[in-house]
Amino acid sequence: MRILVTGGLGFIGSHTCVELLNENYEVVIADNLSNSSIDVLDKIEKITSKRPKFYEIDVCDKEKVSKIFNENEIDAVIHFAGYKAVGESVTEPLKYYRNNLDSTLTLLEVMKKEKCHNFIFSSSATVYGSPKELPIKENFPLSTTNPYGTTKLMIEQILADLSKADKDLSIIVLRYFNPIGAHKSGLLGENPSGIPNNLMPYIVRVADKKLPFLNVFGNDYDTPDGTGVRDYIHVVDLARGHLKALEKGANFKGIEYYNLGTGIGYSVLDLVKTFEKVNNVKVPYKIVDRRPGDIDACYADPTKAYKELGFKAIYGIDDMCIDSYNFIIKNKESHK
Ligand SMILES: NC(=O)c1ccc[n+]([C@@H]2O[C@H](COP(=O)([O-])OP(=O)(O)OC[C@H]3O[C@@H](n4cnc5c(N)ncnc54)[C@H](O)[C@@H]3O)[C@@H](O)[C@H]2O)c1
Repeated sequence: MRILVTGGLGFIGSHTCVELLNENYEVVIADNLSNSSIDVLDKIEKITSKRPKFYEIDVCDKEKVSKIFNENEIDAVIHFAGYKAVGESVTEPLKYYRNNLDSTLTLLEVMKKEKCHNFIFSSSATVYGSPKELPIKENFPLSTTNPYGTTKLMIEQILADLSKADKDLSIIVLRYFNPIGAHKSGLLGENPSGIPNNLMPYIVRVADKKLPFLNVFGNDYDTPDGTGVRDYIHVVDLARGHLKALEKGANFKGIEYYNLGTGIGYSVLDLVKTFEKVNNVKVPYKIVDRRPGDIDACYADPTKAYKELGFKAIYGIDDMCIDSYNFIIKNKESHK
């Protein structure tokens, strides 16, 4: 099977390409390098001894996307390409609506023309808004608190409408919880430029003394230690979830939604303490005011993905902390 992976040089996409290549899928990557680097292609090759075909294109460019389909027989598309920084989406909403919606619509239009029927979409637990109950099940009410989340929800709505109109389509919507960790080789991982938005990239920068301390946003949440609780999932587990979704998609028509998480919630301080212990480093932190829009706790009910996809996360929080730090240590030059 030949899979088009959009955003395949990004954090989750690159790990997914490795898992796909290891399972002998053929991989074609489309990425405009807006949040990734071409070196990742070499690293994927180093790990798998296979070099995926790569197109440096903007997925919003219909002609260029069509060219990929003309030059390669694509059986399925995994669509990672998009912008993902919640804070930036608040200050630059148009950038987020344009890129996330346009890239998806363009792909879907070309797929329709080219009769490619299998689509896997990167959604997010952010579409559950502020859940009234935990753990979160796929049939919970949906809402969002920021433009980034709204792009995901709007795309989910587009996909639901499309699925009603085109009965040949197989659409799997994967709602990721909080991916962290890195490839065991230390070659692939998360490498945001500037001050990181997310907790784990921030922790590793503090541990590596590139930032003086971690800001912990609020310690008066309704959680055991007062800090926010999230469901962290190792990026390699998350990547494996896409292979399970491809298998499901090959024998299914319609649209389905799956949580990809571990089902276990860890607080900010749990993560900091585990990171310090397993890596034998210090992560100084300061408690500061809550961040607007943050919720107390968020963790998945992973039962549906287990029952219907056979997906279960195997890595625990220790591995996530060890692998995240290993990636930074092995790539010190690029993190200066
Ligand atoms: N990382 C998370 O915490 C998280 C959580 C939930 C959902 N997601 C979603 O998963 C997907 C992948 O996330 P990630 O963490 O790997 O992000 P990432 O930024 O590392 O990867 C996205 C990739 O897409 C590319 N890209 C962006 N717009 C493009 C365009 N128009 N054309 C071609 N390439 C384009 C970027 O260069 C980058 O390589 C995103 O859609 C994101 O919203 C991520």
